[in-house]
Amino acid sequence: MSVSQTLTVDLGDQRSYPIFVGQKLLENPDCLVPYIVGKQVCIVTNDTVADLYLKSVESLLADYQVNTVVLPDGESHKSLETVNFIYDCLLENKHNRTTTLVALGGGVVGDMAGYAAATYQRGVNFIQIPTTLLSQVDSSVGGKTGVNHPLGKNMIGAFHQPQCVIIDTDVLQTLPPRELSAGMAEVIKYGLICDKPFYQWIEEHIAGLMSLDEALLVEAIARSCQNKADVVAQDEREAGLRAILNLGHTFGHAIETAQGYGVWLHGEAVAAGMLAALELSSLMGDIPHQEVERLRQLLNNANLPTVLPANMTGEQFLQLMALDKKVLDGRLRLVLVKAIGEAVVTEAASQDQVLQAIANCS
Ligand code: NAD
Ligand code: GLY
Repeated sequence: MSVSQTLTVDLGDQRSYPIFVGQKLLENPDCLVPYIVGKQVCIVTNDTVADLYLKSVESLLADYQVNTVVLPDGESHKSLETVNFIYDCLLENKHNRTTTLVALGGGVVGDMAGYAAATYQRGVNFIQIPTTLLSQVDSSVGGKTGVNHPLGKNMIGAFHQPQCVIIDTDVLQTLPPRELSAGMAEVIKYGLICDKPFYQWIEEHIAGLMSLDEALLVEAIARSCQNKADVVAQDEREAGLRAILNLGHTFGHAIETAQGYGVWLHGEAVAAGMLAALELSSLMGDIPHQEVERLRQLLNNANLPTVLPANMTGEQFLQLMALDKKVLDGRLRLVLVKAIGEAVVTEAASQDQVLQAIANCS
């Protein structure tokens, strides 16, 4: 029996789009073909995912001019130089403004294909087919696209919403276990920031989720995407509320930048960062310390890191966290929790409290 759900990112009449979640969707043209406007398609993928899933997607597109860009795999290639390969392919093959880019891969591919779509001829359509758990529950939804700069993660980018998101849970069967864990960090994030019953549900089902139970995965992904879609619908361009989706990310981005892109996986860095954020919330008196231990247990059950990297000092964290996009007029703003399921964006934490939280999690 296959399980599926369809959700909507509600951005009004012209720009709302569906998220399809289920099994065997890569065999189903109905999720893809109606969302292609012109006759040209450019599939953007990487050398790992191409070997696994490119043929399936190409076989759905027999009636189109299809060109494919196979990028080198890895966060270290998430750069403007790599995006240039996509522009090269589009220009060499004379793609016009009605072309559709199809991002087939994890968040790295999705962010770069989305950025290319946002900028090629000032913006063309694109479709997300995310193939990692992390990209299925987070990066493929909501329209943030971009690349890294050597001085900061995701510092170059654009908001550009896809036409649809196709989430086939079968592809998770080939995902390395470390990547599955990294995605689970973002699933856990939704429980912590806005959905306490979901947090309890994840705690109850973490073993089944980690062993790739299909029905549980569809449920966890759909619930995560629904939470994200609700936030994005209220605050598409991150004027305020959307920042809660970055729980753990200010600490996490500092880890990724300090270690070198790709050494810690994004989701691993977010996991350790969420723990630091909860530790800080506890130091500020907002949650009992047992909630920090409860999260540590859940992260442990998802095979995620539960300490910050030993080779980073508090000062180094502060320096890198000052580069965060939430910094306003030089003031660090952090996502913390008032309670499980209730995140807030605040400037209230002092530098000493941040350093103490880092020390307690190191
Ligand atoms: P990733 O794209 O590097 O993919 C992880 C690895 O899994 C890669 O080696 C990839 O080739 C491989 N892979 C992908 N699908 C596979 C499959 N089905 N089977 C086997 N291997 C597979 O990493 P990610 O965790 O998907 O994404 C991380 C990126 O997403 C970061 O750059 C992060 O900044 C970005 N991100 C963006 C947003 C956003 O809103 N745009 C949100 C969260 C994260
Ligand atoms: N991943 C954070 C956001 O999409 O806003």
